[in-house]
Amino acid sequence: MIRTRVIATAASVPEQIITNDDLARIVDTSDEWISQRTGIKERRISSGENTSVFVSDVAKQLMEKAEVTADSIDLIIVASVTPDYGTPSLACMVQKEIGASNAVAFDVVAACSGFIFALSIADKYIRSSGYENAIIIGGETLSKVIDWSDRSTCVLFGDGAGGAYLEKAQDGGILFEEIGSDGKMYEILTAGYTACSNVFNENPAGVDPLWYAHMDGREVFKFATKNVIKSLNKVMEENNITQEDIKYFIPHQANVRIVEVISKKLDIPFEKFYMNIERFGNTSSASIPIALSELDEKGLLERGDQIILTGFGGGMTWGTMLITW
Ligand code: ACO
Repeated sequence: MIRTRVIATAASVPEQIITNDDLARIVDTSDEWISQRTGIKERRISSGENTSVFVSDVAKQLMEKAEVTADSIDLIIVASVTPDYGTPSLACMVQKEIGASNAVAFDVVAACSGFIFALSIADKYIRSSGYENAIIIGGETLSKVIDWSDRSTCVLFGDGAGGAYLEKAQDGGILFEEIGSDGKMYEILTAGYTACSNVFNENPAGVDPLWYAHMDGREVFKFATKNVIKSLNKVMEENNITQEDIKYFIPHQANVRIVEVISKKLDIPFEKFYMNIERFGNTSSASIPIALSELDEKGLLERGDQIILTGFGGGMTWGTMLITW
């Protein structure tokens, strides 16, 4: 059976580290509040590099690790809610940067579930067409859509990118996915709104307040716990597996308390969830691939291990994927 296998992973994050204490100097907050409510201790924040810098770096590392040439790349998909431009896509910018002249390149928008949605699309291309491989990246510079005077959001997010190089294989790889969306709830988590302002209407030009990230934290918390639990249950039930068959669960890193609830409700030991939120905060579409890349880099995954990626995000969207490493 034709499958899509992860061959290499990589991550790229800004050098600048902003700690909770740094934030306490610009808004009325504290390390104690942020750590206890979210699990975050510090995050990486761009010093001016835009998203294309991080995603291009990930693509270069992936090619080097997988030992493939640029002209052999068939497909590039980048998931992001903070691209450099409306057009071109980040994927086309990556294509130019690495010289992958034979690839098809485009972006997808599914917020923090974006990496899983992009993997899902690549899996279909690889299994049902002549595509042999793909570079899939999630990358963000969320710092540009944050209101740095709003303590309820500015403490949560970080910048960076992560990705995977995939190849067609005869077994293993992506085994099962469960993805979904609920547009009815889109207003509980928004960012990057641009008003329609032109010379023929009365909308003032300039940055709209809705450009900045807005979130109903409690509703997002409820949505996340309910849908991730349902999605994880479905994936395990439909594949006749239990948490014992899974080496690691790699959740979207939004809030350590969300993962604690999921771990408790599903009776999965918390240690099985790979967490790095304390060092990166919530990097939206980049959070799952950055975590995956760390696991891989540390040598914690062996070929044949089963892992589950699971995320939720703006839209609202969610996605869970069962993969044999
Ligand atoms: N520092 C200090 N106090 C703060 C801060 C802060 N940074 N932010 C809010 N507060 C205050 C509020 O003003 C409020 O004060 P009040 O009681 O005097 O009115 C109090 O803390 C409680 O505020 P809540 O918003 O009710 O705090 P809550 O316990 O819900 O925690 C949080 C907020 C962490 C955002 C939580 O709702 C949450 O985790 N939600 C899940 C959403 C999430 O993780 N989103 C991440 C991005 S979305 C995504 O990735 C898909």
